[in-house]
Amino acid sequence: MIPRVRPEAGYREIFSALGTGHDPNSVAEFAEVLRSRLSLESAPALTPSGRAALYYLFLAVPLRRVYLPAYTCWVVAEAAVLAGKEIHLLDISYPGLHIKPCEIERIRSMPGIVVATHSFGYPEDAAAIRNILNDSSFMIVEDCAGAMFSRYQDKPVGLTGDAAIFSFEEGKLWTLGRGGAVVTKDKTLHSRIQDIMKKTCTLRPGPINLFRLIKRRFLTQPFVYNLLLRMYLRFYPPTEGIHEFSRKLTEDYTRTFSSYQARLGLIMEPGITEIARRKRELFEYYNSAAADIAGIRRAEALPRSEVCPMRFPILVSKENKPAVYSGMKALGIDLGFSFSYFLGNGQQYPGAARMAEECLNLPVYSEITLPIARNILKLLESCMSDMPRYK
Ligand SMILES: Cc1ncc(COP(=O)(O)O)c(C=O)c1O
Repeated sequence: MIPRVRPEAGYREIFSALGTGHDPNSVAEFAEVLRSRLSLESAPALTPSGRAALYYLFLAVPLRRVYLPAYTCWVVAEAAVLAGKEIHLLDISYPGLHIKPCEIERIRSMPGIVVATHSFGYPEDAAAIRNILNDSSFMIVEDCAGAMFSRYQDKPVGLTGDAAIFSFEEGKLWTLGRGGAVVTKDKTLHSRIQDIMKKTCTLRPGPINLFRLIKRRFLTQPFVYNLLLRMYLRFYPPTEGIHEFSRKLTEDYTRTFSSYQARLGLIMEPGITEIARRKRELFEYYNSAAADIAGIRRAEALPRSEVCPMRFPILVSKENKPAVYSGMKALGIDLGFSFSYFLGNGQQYPGAARMAEECLNLPVYSEITLPIARNILKLLESCMSDMPRYK
């Protein structure tokens, strides 16, 4: 069984990071490596998770409203709620993942923090959002959690907004178990975030997130995964959907980014370019080959996007979605369900609602070689040929 996600960090790298022991300098060293690798203006602050990066940023910015795409990871909304913000949702341009420009027009007179999300690695046009708003009382935050090394109009994502966040969660690109980063153009804001974090991150860092990573690698070994998935699906549906927001800060918000994670980040650094290259290559392959499969629609990237994907979204009719999932599972491929929900309700966000109904994902991690990807698409094609045709 091919799992939907698998950490990029290997056992050898994780054990080597554990073996080095606690080294207080490695966190600053890793932040500096990130600055250079992601072409950032300054070193980011390392945070307990991607959602914590958003949470601390939201806390540090006095604006009351937070604008989110209605189709995004639920933890983004959780972070805003925990920070006491008022959430406003904006619809996306189905089959594109970016916010509809008319939605940005709609909020022009209501200053707030706009989260420009590079969903699945597909770049959002943060500069266009800024142009429409044309008002410095808005803050634009690029959510690059799933888009590290994506580029838009020849520029890496994360450089255009007033701030950007990244994630090192185990399903992303630079997988450190957990962890995130936030970078801001305003130095005073950066210091404010650091101060708030110092007071709030009370859980001892330690090596725990690397133990999680070891467990995750073991559980996603194809043989083990096969057994566990079959057991799991006896009791639960294949997608968890949206969760209830936590009312208090969990360890995703309070466990300090550890020197062990930083050490693993440094150990992985020489291989990061290759991981990103493979992900881009997989994107190019999936994107061209999926075009020929009847019954499959692809998410639309904005022109001049270079996508370094977190997963590859495919869109199937909502009627066929459960059967496509089951058919592919029977053929040994566990398709992902990000995201099977949207954040709004009813008819207000038709683009986000349709994306949530139709989206399944093909796996994109560097163990998926091109021959494996070709096989996945061959199986998908045979699976789709059995499906009824819907509009
Ligand atoms: C778009 C987006 N933003 C933020 C996050 C939060 O990242 P983390 O899981 O590190 O908290 C995620 C998580 O997957 C995400 O998909």
